[in-house]
Amino acid sequence: MNVILLGAPGAGKGTQAAKMVQTFGLPHISTGDIFRKAVADGTPLGLEAKRYMDAGDLVPDEVTIGIVKERLAQPDCAEGFILDGFPRTVPQADALNAALTSMGTALDAVILVDVPREALVERLTARRQCRACGKIYNVMGDMPADAAVCDECGGEVYQRADDTVETVTNRLDVYDRNTMPLVEYYRERGLLKAVDGARDVDAVFEDVAAVVRGGQRG
Ligand code: AP5
Ligand code: MG
Ligand code: ZN
Repeated sequence: MNVILLGAPGAGKGTQAAKMVQTFGLPHISTGDIFRKAVADGTPLGLEAKRYMDAGDLVPDEVTIGIVKERLAQPDCAEGFILDGFPRTVPQADALNAALTSMGTALDAVILVDVPREALVERLTARRQCRACGKIYNVMGDMPADAAVCDECGGEVYQRADDTVETVTNRLDVYDRNTMPLVEYYRERGLLKAVDGARDVDAVFEDVAAVVRGGQRG
């Protein structure tokens, strides 16, 4: 199953992807996570990406597309993958189509996790994340026993640099401008499956899992 999780910042793409990994064992490819790791490691990619991420702007398409193509060529993607946060622009979506075609495969579904904008600022400013394993928390009711220490791995739980009110507002504007057109793009291609993301995590996952089960190749 080759699936994209599409949705605004804070819609719950990472949260749903983690549950999909557990249930379906598909590799989770988050361009945001790849960039954050590069920033933490201080690589040239990280230095370039950081400028854009801290402002809530998009990393240039040519950089992002190259990284995803490399990742999709890894052997663990042969049986399927979950793309989270990619594509985010029409050129990225076109490049993904071309890459998959040249690999002899195609997308099975694009799951839109749909959440009204009002809810997103609150979710994002309340988010905390484990620096080591990436586990996602939220101060509104889903925190580890010790707020600074990850339950899963003992790593440091921190707040992402781009989860400030100011940066979140720009990220949401960038989503509306650059990424929203992909909803129509994939609807026209018959791939879009919209899921109501404004419910609790497990209720959302029931719908997400139903799409994956429905689209699995026999
Ligand atoms: P990225 O890391 O992808 O961030 P994003 O798209 O802004 O999405 P988020 O990770 O913020 O939200 P999410 O949907 O994963 O929500 P989550 O599950 O964490 O990208 C960061 C930056 O990298 C970009 O700004 C850009 O600079 C760059 N970048 C990345 N990809 C790029 C690309 N393709 N092209 C160019 N640049 C790129 O949940 C959020 C919070 O809500 C959590 O606290 C969670 O606990 C809570 N929550 C989740 N689900 C629910 C629920 N159902 N009910 C209540 N709370 C919930
Ligand atoms: Mg995420
Ligand atoms: Zn952890």
